[in-house]
Amino acid sequence: MNTDLEKVILSADEINTRVQEIAIEINQNYEGSVREVILITLLDGAIVFTADLIRHLSVPIRLDCIRVSSYGNSTNPETAPRILGSLKSDVQDKHVLLVDDILDTGNTMKKIVNEVSVQKPASLRTCVFLDKPERRQNNFQADWSGFSIPDEFVVGYGLDYAGRYRELPYLGTLKPEIYSHNT
Ligand code: PRP
Repeated sequence: MNTDLEKVILSADEINTRVQEIAIEINQNYEGSVREVILITLLDGAIVFTADLIRHLSVPIRLDCIRVSSYGNSTNPETAPRILGSLKSDVQDKHVLLVDDILDTGNTMKKIVNEVSVQKPASLRTCVFLDKPERRQNNFQADWSGFSIPDEFVVGYGLDYAGRYRELPYLGTLKPEIYSHNT
């Protein structure tokens, strides 16, 4: 375990097992009914989850990325989510799957869903690795969610604190002194 971590919440094995289960559900949803899915991953946090998930998908995908930022270097959203850049895909009449690492307040997903919806996709689904229902500021619910977790700040498997720890293959909480070093 990384020495900055207080505890591991989800091991790499638990994560891998769950990612495969989600992929099966997604495959069942699309298989036989759609030719192709445009999978839009929300940078930066969803990179790791997306990379693992797509390798278990049987439905053909086109990968697109969108960068959204709201957290800066803190553990709480500092600003309303900002969309940085634009999609390369034309999503009109296409089947779209949005993938993010965590559903927290729900403001990011709600904003992206609104943005994509106006382009009239044939269908729009959402998939998140983690869900923190206690933190929600709206009624947003993902179609697929890996794990529901309590309101604790977590890092690893794509999730960062001040840009660090994304590469850890497991999910954990940081020791309190790590935050005090950054304030
Ligand atoms: C994080 C995370 C989600 C979003 C969830 O992004 O990746 O996209 O916040 O929060 P919300 O439900 O409260 O809107 P962040 O801004 O930290 O950028 P990152 O993906 O680059 O880490």
